[in-house]
Amino acid sequence: MNTKKEKLLIEAKKILEENWREKYTIPSPKLYPHQWSWDSAFVSIGYSHYDLEKAKKELLSMFEGQWSNGMLPHIIFRGGDGYFPGNEYWHTGLSEFSPEIKTSGITQPPVHALAAWHVYENSRDKKEAKVFLEEIFSKILHFHRYLLTKRDRERSGLVTIFHPWESGLDNSLRWDEPLARIKVENLPEYERIDTEKVSSEQRPTKDDYDRYLYLIEVMKKYNYDEETLYEKIPFKIKDVVFNSILYEANKALLKIADILGNDKNEIKTWIQRTKKNYIRYFCPDEPSNLLLFDYDLIAGKNIVKKTVASLVSLCTDLLSQKQAKELASWMKHSHMCRENCVHEHPVITSISVDDLQFNPLNYWRGPVWININWMLHQGLRNYGFTEEARNLKKSIIDLVAEHGFYEYFNPLSGEGLGADSFSWTAALLIDLISEKDG
Ligand code: SER
Repeated sequence: MNTKKEKLLIEAKKILEENWREKYTIPSPKLYPHQWSWDSAFVSIGYSHYDLEKAKKELLSMFEGQWSNGMLPHIIFRGGDGYFPGNEYWHTGLSEFSPEIKTSGITQPPVHALAAWHVYENSRDKKEAKVFLEEIFSKILHFHRYLLTKRDRERSGLVTIFHPWESGLDNSLRWDEPLARIKVENLPEYERIDTEKVSSEQRPTKDDYDRYLYLIEVMKKYNYDEETLYEKIPFKIKDVVFNSILYEANKALLKIADILGNDKNEIKTWIQRTKKNYIRYFCPDEPSNLLLFDYDLIAGKNIVKKTVASLVSLCTDLLSQKQAKELASWMKHSHMCRENCVHEHPVITSISVDDLQFNPLNYWRGPVWININWMLHQGLRNYGFTEEARNLKKSIIDLVAEHGFYEYFNPLSGEGLGADSFSWTAALLIDLISEKDG
């Protein structure tokens, strides 16, 4: 390993050390003082390379927030004030399923089985790792079962999200139309904290926040009851990114079940369902269009917006080689690479720099995100685009080395944006640098 990478590893570990709080890791002291669900899973993947105890604690502590119906909330409120909407906003006690511990009332992409698999793979002592798998398996299974029943009334193998925050890509262009349809009524006054900490041009707008909070009001009105929300909530999307992650997570869960000698039939059924419906829902015009688009259940159609979400399917094995090739080439030529801007490296932006709505500063409406690039790196490798994957990996590492461990990055200048000392940026850099091939 060269000195640049060694230095980066030391810095990354220092950030995680500083953000560690006894059994979990805050995403960043500046904006996010609690425990977030998919952040925890990404962070655990980073720890699995050098501190297995932390990797395990991180995942297990996240599941302390699991609801008795299996739902894994997107936040456990463990820090003090300093985040809005905090615990008092959610009133999760309205649900008969919420736990004692303070949580939000929505979920986030299920990266956890993938993290648990990393822990197992990176453990030398497989016997000890198996003890951990025993402990976590039923919790993850319960979570996936919740997703594939309560959030998939169609039994399509594709989960429905009820809130843009559940997607993890909060203000993606894909949510503009579905959110615009929502008529916000009787929303109590509120005060944001995020825009006091980070410039508002880097964060979602007030209109977005009104809708984010209105959706929570609807959930509270119906006591977070999924049966009713399936009828009443005005945001119901089968999300490509969420479901690509879930499909891969189910494959990881299947491998874990195999190691433990547990029954695999239920997981196999879920995987088969997703296999059957993934292209049908997300790419119905194939082969005339090969990009994948989310399915809006309320509008009864796909959300045809070209963003990085259309590429994340590369991290599944659900594409034909032809389709994967098309996506890899689109990635290169759609001006979603920094290569086509001012820099030589092909880091992938959240939307094309040529898109009229491209904004280099604003959250998911232009900037580069490390977790998505990390998924795309894996995706390119899955389909045999070895050189492209190698280039992408080098670019991710260079970007962070040059500009720091930020939450997201301006694709035109490389400048770091949002929160600094961002845990998943550090953790996924550790994963990339620690990979066997370099
Ligand atoms: N990602 C959201 C935020 O920015 C909520 O989880 O606060």
